[in-house]
Amino acid sequence: MRVILYGCGDFSYVIEYLQEALNKLGKPAFTSFNPNDTTAKITVDVVATELRSEDQLVKQYGQRVKDNIAALQKMGIQVLLGVDATNHPYYGPFDLVIFRNPHTGNYGNSQDPSMLSYVESIGKNNQLFEGVLKKTEQTVVPYGEVLITVVGWPYVGKNPKTSLEMKGLNLDNPTYAKEYGSRAGLEFLSYIDFGTHWIARNSGGSFEAGEIGLHYRDNTKWRDVKELEHTMRGYEEKNWPAWVYKHDQWQAIKYKINNNL
Ligand SMILES: C[S@@+](CC[C@H](N)C(=O)[O-])C[C@H]1O[C@@H](n2cnc3c(N)ncnc32)[C@H](O)[C@@H]1O
Repeated sequence: MRVILYGCGDFSYVIEYLQEALNKLGKPAFTSFNPNDTTAKITVDVVATELRSEDQLVKQYGQRVKDNIAALQKMGIQVLLGVDATNHPYYGPFDLVIFRNPHTGNYGNSQDPSMLSYVESIGKNNQLFEGVLKKTEQTVVPYGEVLITVVGWPYVGKNPKTSLEMKGLNLDNPTYAKEYGSRAGLEFLSYIDFGTHWIARNSGGSFEAGEIGLHYRDNTKWRDVKELEHTMRGYEEKNWPAWVYKHDQWQAIKYKINNNL
């Protein structure tokens, strides 16, 4: 099983959070994170990523970031920095995509009477959320899963800014959660209650808040071009089903995959 995590911040929680997420998704707890560990019954191949560079992270969180990354690498987890969850090269198909608390760091400015900064904050975070979902069209195997956990402003409706008519994305409303998914070819499966957690801010520091997971699944329709591409990316060539070769686009898609397009 291959998993990619986006926006890992200071990389302090990756293992703990992944185990919790797998548990909540009803998947077996993994005995090893090292894909080369043949003694493990089930292994998970994990790629943990973050948008910022090491320099930026060290500046923000201090030297401990380097220790956190080294500890993960020692366990066999691949760590990649400078990865934009909405736009990155193809790293191979994944069974599960996880982004805990995506946030651009733009919270809006409570001192701004025009509220424009809140509108901008909603817009930027909306772009991030939509962009992550959209990107899964290329990263997830057919029927692969996506888990994005969100916390408070601007994602969840229940926050003080609603009294200012700033409703944010209201992802705790199933109608919106579904609509976001279907625009990206994903089926909204359920909310997962992660309970109250200490939540990290982009800038360091943390606060306690309720965290909810939005659980999506790739909603591939059988044998359209999207399914063709998903299937060809999701399996090794020798395992492609016979129908792949009957599709008039298969050579074009093969070219795209081979050339990292
Ligand atoms: C609120 S912090 C959460 C960090 C971590 N996931 C956690 O829960 O502790 C949001 C994280 O998303 C990252 N981020 C923001 N925009 C991103 C993007 N386009 N692609 C990947 N990560 C992004 C930030 O750098 C930051 O690390």
